[in-house]
Amino acid sequence: MNKVKFELKDVSLERPDCNSTGKRPTAIILNRINTVFLQGQITAVMGPSGAGKSSLLRLLNRLEDPGTGSITLDGANLKDLNIFTLRRRVGMVWQLPTLFPGTVAANISYGPRLRGIPPVAAATMARKLIQTVGLTAELLDRPAASLSIGQQQRVSLARTLANEPEVLLLDEPTSALDPTAAANILHLMADLRSRLGLTIIFVTHLPEQARQVADRVLLLSHGEIIESGPALQFFTAPRDPRSRLFLNGQLEG
Ligand SMILES: Nc1ncnc2c1ncn2[C@@H]1O[C@H](COP(=O)(O)OP(=O)(O)OP(=O)(O)O)[C@@H](O)[C@H]1O
Ligand SMILES: [Mg+2]
Repeated sequence: MNKVKFELKDVSLERPDCNSTGKRPTAIILNRINTVFLQGQITAVMGPSGAGKSSLLRLLNRLEDPGTGSITLDGANLKDLNIFTLRRRVGMVWQLPTLFPGTVAANISYGPRLRGIPPVAAATMARKLIQTVGLTAELLDRPAASLSIGQQQRVSLARTLANEPEVLLLDEPTSALDPTAAANILHLMADLRSRLGLTIIFVTHLPEQARQVADRVLLLSHGEIIESGPALQFFTAPRDPRSRLFLNGQLEG
């Protein structure tokens, strides 16, 4: 049985409603979310556009805090953890690569250098990590901007892995990639889960991706959980009629 990594209890998030006429000044983005994310498992977060998928991910490394409810990591309330330690333990990869000007090596060894790891050891880490993400060490001395978007996305992942996270949050990490580069990222996720025991939570709007790599699925609509559970059950015998609509591409946002 996998251990609970994150536990969300009655988590709600509201934001100012930009279309508000004054009668309803806030919009409910997430509404009383109760769920867990299990250690060493890949969970796919799915749902129509605007369902609250990215918002949910942002709560897990405190890019935002919920208005009500509590979130724990290994049993400790996120608010009681040092924010820098939390963000190291819970790494994030975005939809588009987020590299800064400089070489690939400089990008990957940025985190380790910041933690005081000596240059030679940080360079060794970069050399190992570039291979972990399926690229060759020859790329290390190239300017990051000269790589293809698919390669840059893998370097972004290597840079996040350089912080030795326990959890990886990925928000539609393949949406800017061609099918081959997207497949590479999916394989890599499965590999990181199996080899390093990472807990991976990724947002995708493609059920096919979840079917390929996810152990568990969480389907959101209008800020509420429609269904969550083992991926196999979700894809073979979804319990909620809206899950069936979603799988048929008919669930509206
Ligand atoms: N900074 C913000 N201020 C106000 N409302 C926001 C903000 N960011 C997102 N929202 C609203 O919150 C809701 C959920 O947004 P979120 O980005 O979490 O959805 P999503 O499921 O990730 O959608 P997508 O699939 O399009 O990325 C949407 O209605 C969106 O308009
Ligand atoms: Mg989103």
